Amino acid sequence: MAKNKIVVAYSGGLDTSVMVHWLKDKYDAELITVTGNLGQTSELEGLEEKAKATGASKSYILDLQEEFIRDYVWKALKAGALYENVYPMACAIGRPLLAKLMVDIALAEGADMIAHGCTGKGNDQVRFEVGIQTLSPNTKILAPLRTWEFKSREQEIDYAQKHNIPIKIKKDSPYSIDENIWGIAIECGVLEDPTVAPPEDAYLITANPKNAPDEGETVSIDFEKGIPVAVNGVKMAAVEIVKALNAIGGRHGVGRMDVIENRVVGIKSREVYEAPAAVILHTAHTELEKLTLDKLTYRAKQDVSNQVANLIYDGLWFSLIFDSLMAFVDKTQERVSGTVVVELYKGNTRVISRDSIYSLYNKELATYTEDDSFDHKAAEGFLALYGLPFKTMSKVQQAADAHASVTV
Ligand code: ARG
Repeated sequence: MAKNKIVVAYSGGLDTSVMVHWLKDKYDAELITVTGNLGQTSELEGLEEKAKATGASKSYILDLQEEFIRDYVWKALKAGALYENVYPMACAIGRPLLAKLMVDIALAEGADMIAHGCTGKGNDQVRFEVGIQTLSPNTKILAPLRTWEFKSREQEIDYAQKHNIPIKIKKDSPYSIDENIWGIAIECGVLEDPTVAPPEDAYLITANPKNAPDEGETVSIDFEKGIPVAVNGVKMAAVEIVKALNAIGGRHGVGRMDVIENRVVGIKSREVYEAPAAVILHTAHTELEKLTLDKLTYRAKQDVSNQVANLIYDGLWFSLIFDSLMAFVDKTQERVSGTVVVELYKGNTRVISRDSIYSLYNKELATYTEDDSFDHKAAEGFLALYGLPFKTMSKVQQAADAHASVTV
């Protein structure tokens, strides 16, 4: 009987395949692989057989798409969480769910070790490990990629061949890609030079805006308490909403991002992202907040959005500060319900209409026609008081400065 039991986060790619065998060997362990389906397009079929052929005694493959959108993505959307104002954080939001999955299975299986295939210079090791430490403080975490002897892909392939580990030697993509239903992150290859524009083949799900249809397309999105519930008037399940908007947006070249980003470990990286549904939904959701939140709440929400984005990016999903800020966010969303219509056209998402029974827009107050009900005279008293401290200060300073220049 093997001494140890290790639960491994497993994708079936080269790294995690070699990792399963390597761990089994080094730790005299029974290996249990765990794969979460967050809507990635990579093949899940045959993964169980592959894991077992590699040496795993058991293999879990779980469809987490609905849970991912409902309990993770929608929270980030309600929070308006865009890292450094742009990145909708598909990878960063997916990791805490995967960390929780690993912990749940480790506890159920009586395993006291969890292994992952993240490298030592990325953000994902942080998100996995802080998540696991928080949810299961006594579990030991193994990150073989940080310590093992392999220095290159070729060395891993040699090891795999020597030990009969089934690997598909794919046509080598020049990029490193991480994807789920909320978005795709593309790195490496020529993208490592930030002066070089991303080649067209870096993009997987969006049309080049230049080649997108010459006719724009309008899409309406209904929200209830900050959560999208229908597209073009049709009620849909959470996953279907995201899939539908990825397809429509992708067709119109919406959702491409090319950014320099500050990683947790202190380096800057250049990332290319595609996230059509995320861009459309964040744009529409923010618009509905502009319509339904009062000024002070909207301003406070902007600060909280930024803080929540940083927490998610930095791997602190499971934390008191995150939960506390989300309690604020949820309070703000109670009346963020209504419909936003956007027009998608050659890479752009333009809001063209917004409506809500909680709309704070009052046409009688806003209008410049004779229907105007705004009390213009009241502005006089308001300005006398609103400008008072500035007027007072200037009077004092100008008089004092004049006096000072006379006495010099
Ligand atoms: N920079 C992104 C993040 O930290 C993506 C990381 C994974 N990217 C990749 N292409 N493998 O969330």
